[in-house]
Amino acid sequence: LLMEPFGADIDLAEAVLKDYNAHLVRKASSMKGHYADADALEKLIQQGDPLHYEVFEKAVPQETGHLQFGLSKLQPGTVGEEFFMTKGHYHEIPEAAEVYLCLRGKGYMLMKTTEGECRAEYMERGRVVYVPPYWAHRSVNVGDEPLITFYVYPGDAGHNYGDIEEEGFPKRIYKRGDKVEIL
Ligand code: PA5
Ligand code: NI
Repeated sequence: LLMEPFGADIDLAEAVLKDYNAHLVRKASSMKGHYADADALEKLIQQGDPLHYEVFEKAVPQETGHLQFGLSKLQPGTVGEEFFMTKGHYHEIPEAAEVYLCLRGKGYMLMKTTEGECRAEYMERGRVVYVPPYWAHRSVNVGDEPLITFYVYPGDAGHNYGDIEEEGFPKRIYKRGDKVEIL
């Protein structure tokens, strides 16, 4: 039995996926261990544990051949001087690649390999980033509005958060006055 084709609407002006049926929400408290300044994160959590990022999807079967797509919406802000970011992950099937199209905001896709190679690819509206096989990836919002990206990856790719939690990324992105520093 074949799956029925379907369409979906993205409000491009607002960068909103209409009629999504899967919604992931991560608050500041789900980011423990990821920021350089653990005390600043703890303070943020105490001050009301604000929304950090959301993922909106039209869910498809998590199986070979399917393509999962959706919108990632990362709030602006800093923890200490470090810009808000996603947890980041390798795919469970590490050779599964991913494509991101930035719809709104400004940021970087931070990517690393298990060998410790690290790249930061700039994102703004209209820019596409290709995350090749084997690269862990994390979005970082360096602007003052939400960073919203449309993504597509193989349906069976899965998310491996454990390895990147242990390794961390070799680089961090900081707000120094009006400047963005990638260190
Ligand atoms: O598929 C992706 O890589 C994205 O949809 C991310 O899952 C999303 O940006 C949330 O980030 P993370 O899964 O690292 O928490
Ligand atoms: Ni991914």
